[in-house]
Amino acid sequence: MTQSTSNAAATSAVSGASAKRGFWSSRMAFVLAATGSAVGLGNIWKFPYITGENGGGAFVLVYLLCIAVVGIPIMMAEVMIGRRGGRSPINSMRILAERDRLSSRWKWLAGVGVLASFLILSFYSVIGGWAVSYVGTAASGQLSGQSAEVIGAIFSGLLGDPGKLLIWHSLFMALTMLVVARGLRGGLERAVTILMPALFVLLLLLVGYAMTTGHFGQAASFLFRPDFSSLTTEAVLVALGHAFFTLSLGMGVMMAYGSYLNKNVSIAKTSLLVSLMDTGVALLAGLAIFPIVFANGLEPGAGPGLIFQTLPLAFGQMPLGSLFGTLFFVLLVFAAWTSAISLLEPLVEWLEEQKGMNRLVSTLGAGSLCWLLGIASILSLNEWSGFAPLGMFAAFEGKTVFDLLDYLTANILLPLGGLLVAVFVGWFMARQALENELSLRGPWFGLWYGVLRYVTPVAVAIVFIYNLV
Ligand code: PHE
Repeated sequence: MTQSTSNAAATSAVSGASAKRGFWSSRMAFVLAATGSAVGLGNIWKFPYITGENGGGAFVLVYLLCIAVVGIPIMMAEVMIGRRGGRSPINSMRILAERDRLSSRWKWLAGVGVLASFLILSFYSVIGGWAVSYVGTAASGQLSGQSAEVIGAIFSGLLGDPGKLLIWHSLFMALTMLVVARGLRGGLERAVTILMPALFVLLLLLVGYAMTTGHFGQAASFLFRPDFSSLTTEAVLVALGHAFFTLSLGMGVMMAYGSYLNKNVSIAKTSLLVSLMDTGVALLAGLAIFPIVFANGLEPGAGPGLIFQTLPLAFGQMPLGSLFGTLFFVLLVFAAWTSAISLLEPLVEWLEEQKGMNRLVSTLGAGSLCWLLGIASILSLNEWSGFAPLGMFAAFEGKTVFDLLDYLTANILLPLGGLLVAVFVGWFMARQALENELSLRGPWFGLWYGVLRYVTPVAVAIVFIYNLV
């Protein structure tokens, strides 16, 4: 089948609604929106703290390897499925499966993804709420000149107060629903065009500050000098899971965004660009945070509170710290916000398409349910902090609801979703269709195809099996 007839088949298969769908206004708009989804709490909040918990350099190296051999090929595959299907992820999968005479059950692959994004958003919004609350904390000047103890106490004060957490979580979720309800392109496109570059500049500034702490070298060697003796198999699983999480893979988000992508845009180049920017932000965040950690004798493995306990110290000490601190947390909120929007989008898109609900109703419905589930994560930080629902299994010992949601999504659902995407595209879709869609020159197609067929699934499967056994 040639490209034009296959496109015609796609159009006829998806009658009606597809005519109303637009496209991104430019390639750059897609790059920014996809980067907006990819760059978020995962880069600035999660990457530094899991790097700290897992011993630094060796973990970072495994993570970079996972981005290269698993993340980038799967991102290309997901964007391609979205663009070819031209619908919400679940329906795009169904259309592509039917077109190649495969079982329509493949659509449940995207179903798992939508479930994962729902679960992630529930706790993502709670952390987004922390960031919102820190905008106020920084702006009020409470941080200036404070010791590590006082700053730690401010943070524990927040976590210990379910009422406050609920307010911030609600606010963050409301912001997310607001943009999704209005349809995503008008607001989102414009916002990311300004915010993403601003975040980059501010991070560079913070790295500059970190260089003055005198512990930059120690931080750089912590991040980049691998010590394999400290690498556990669990750490490899965490690195793999994080590669999916940070690139927004394994749950159909990139399919949803790809469905608005113009046919003449190179999927390979844009995926590469998005992945590089995402990785760049994570590494910059690490270089900004660890010098402060070491300079103040803090614990790199402090866990989820790491950036909320370290960066405020830096802001408290630098000139114009309240200003920079406020700006930083504003941008962190924006980074989290553009990611949260992308987490809600696929579910809302599907409710609209499949259940015929209008956008407002589906946003309100999906958003409120997610908000409700978020309360369980809030309580695990205080009232339920000793409650481990699956504690009877050794692997989940001591994990609260919040920990479980994070663990199950990032380390199990996302890699599983990604594995299935790789198998579907690599082993089931017609090779000719892939060649048409990617139009890669020279050996590049073969390289991508080989990696996606053999390396990616095997790597994910090995890490999985190793951890199960
Ligand atoms: N990639 C986002 C981050 O790093 C989180 C995210 C995951 C967003 C999955 C969308 C889908 O913060």
